[in-house]
Amino acid sequence: MAATHDFPQSPLKHVDEWDDFVAGRYREGKDQAEFRQYEANTPIAEFYRQNHAGQTLEFVLGKEREYGSLSRGKRGIWEAADYLNTLVDDSDPDTDLSQTEHLLQTAEAIRRDGHPRWMILAGFVHDLGKVLCLYGEPQWAVVGDTFPVGCAWSDDIVFAEYFGLNPDSNVPEYQTRNGIYEPHCGLRNVHMSWGHDEYIYRVTRNYLPEPAQYMLRYHSFYPAHRHGAYRHLMSDRDETMFEWVRKFNQYDLYSKGSAKPAVKELRPFYEDLVSEYFPDQIAW
Ligand SMILES: [Fe+2]
Ligand SMILES: [Fe+2]
Repeated sequence: MAATHDFPQSPLKHVDEWDDFVAGRYREGKDQAEFRQYEANTPIAEFYRQNHAGQTLEFVLGKEREYGSLSRGKRGIWEAADYLNTLVDDSDPDTDLSQTEHLLQTAEAIRRDGHPRWMILAGFVHDLGKVLCLYGEPQWAVVGDTFPVGCAWSDDIVFAEYFGLNPDSNVPEYQTRNGIYEPHCGLRNVHMSWGHDEYIYRVTRNYLPEPAQYMLRYHSFYPAHRHGAYRHLMSDRDETMFEWVRKFNQYDLYSKGSAKPAVKELRPFYEDLVSEYFPDQIAW
């Protein structure tokens, strides 16, 4: 495979380009064979090349240590949403929605369908972990389909061919089906590739009910919730909770087309909802 040197460390114009790629992938209903045929030498391919090459077990353990202590300061949920909005340059004609608008669109679609309040809240906070970008993390350590590290990679991961570039491919212990894990040990014992899912889960886990925690932590784990991969590591609890993850995914992917949410009008409802579950400030 030709290494590409003409792409920068941030091949995507914006991290949301990855979200758009995923939405397109499933909207088109591609079958498993087509799913594997994406063009090389595009910004998206380069993004996955960097992601798959860089997400080693060692890298993940390092990020878990770095962020696990939640020592990036205290911030309220709305404050985090406002902060995340600074990620996008308003004058960029390609970005049609602000981060808050995507969050509200997801949450509002969940609300319209009459789901519980904690699920609406999960919709509202699910992408706040993208503040990792603002801490200076490269795109490949913020977004991308997530997958377990320390065990064999599933063929159901998009652009799986790039894992050949991952140094873990040379560690036999990490290349067996279960790798460093026990069969059906439960995902709570499995290290996932590092990104905005794991981070927002860690920030919010003390405040949200378990199904919401699963929605946040595994919303980008497409190999599992869309393709059924990694069931050999999942516990019965995981299987049950993944029903919620799958339910949630519909709203994350397909709420984008609906009308722009009226942020000002919606704000009181969401301020109420946030304060029902969260204190004024939480540790990030
Ligand atoms: Fe996300
Ligand atoms: Fe999202």
